[in-house]
Amino acid sequence: MAFLRDIWYPAGWASELNDQLLGRTLLDQMVLLFRDANGTARAIGGRCPHRFAPLHLGTKFGDAVECAYHGFRFDGTGRCVLVPDEEGPIPGGMRVPGYPLVERDRVLWIWFGDVDKADPALIPDLSERLSNPKYVALTGTIVIKANYELVADNLIDARHGQFLHASVLKGSGFYEAPHEITHEGHTVQINRLIKNTTAPSTYARFLPDPTIPVDWFTTTRWDPPGIFQLDNGCTPAGCDRDAGVRRPGVHLLCPETETSTHYFYASVRNYNLDDPVADEASREWQRIVFEEQDKVMLEAVQQAMGTTDFLSLHPVLLRADNTATRLRNTMRELLRKEEASRKSVAS
Ligand code: FES
Ligand SMILES: [Fe+2]
Repeated sequence: MAFLRDIWYPAGWASELNDQLLGRTLLDQMVLLFRDANGTARAIGGRCPHRFAPLHLGTKFGDAVECAYHGFRFDGTGRCVLVPDEEGPIPGGMRVPGYPLVERDRVLWIWFGDVDKADPALIPDLSERLSNPKYVALTGTIVIKANYELVADNLIDARHGQFLHASVLKGSGFYEAPHEITHEGHTVQINRLIKNTTAPSTYARFLPDPTIPVDWFTTTRWDPPGIFQLDNGCTPAGCDRDAGVRRPGVHLLCPETETSTHYFYASVRNYNLDDPVADEASREWQRIVFEEQDKVMLEAVQQAMGTTDFLSLHPVLLRADNTATRLRNTMRELLRKEEASRKSVAS
């Protein structure tokens, strides 16, 4: 499968990268993530060019990583800096790729495309949700054995909530409520607002007075390649969103392979900031909704599809599927443009 390359992908949460080496397959490539002696996050190819040992099995020596098999060392740019017991210069081919990597707003962003285009200003700005003292954000990482577009379909499609997540997402009238879809550039946003209603139990227990009428809102914003910013909550009717219970989540997707996806999520909240009970409620929600329900269903869907592309199976799509289709079309359009620009540079 062809992946878009000239774009920043999430490679993980910064908190996942400590003193240890972290091997991860991203866009079908083995990548090694590590911190150099200064603590700066680095990304290089994860397979030793000598006899192909995975470099994450090795050891860190200052700014370099030593392969566990024969001791060759590679620095944070991918250059081989030591070949033990070998005289003469290090062969030119003895290196692994080095990838631009930026740590920002608690996320590690990696670039697989043309290095000259790797402008950090293009990284999505998640600071409002992830680096904001008015919120607490609980992060998690899972791998879903399904193509990343199937995972994106799931995140943009609110309707599955009333069935797949019926055990935890109750609320009469929500799914029938009118919603507005906006497109700006490549960004797609869906807004739902139910005014002057009863707070659903998931929010009511955190409101100062659970019986007062509320405005119940959800916003989902998508940006390519798989950046979802949510804003869900209830606020006393007519009040600003910050006046009530607000959960502006973040969901970041990075393809692992054609049929598996790294899913990095953050549950963010503006209430009970330093409260282990609220933390536990949030973790429980993540475990049930993302791991026991979405992941299980998406993996079953991928299994049912085999390795055949989604559209080649001629899915029977309804009007309500238009937004998910728009996401796929946007990705294809970006891919076509990228391939065209590569060809024009090559010719
Ligand atoms: S396989 Fe890495 S040094 Fe030989
Ligand atoms: Fe879901």
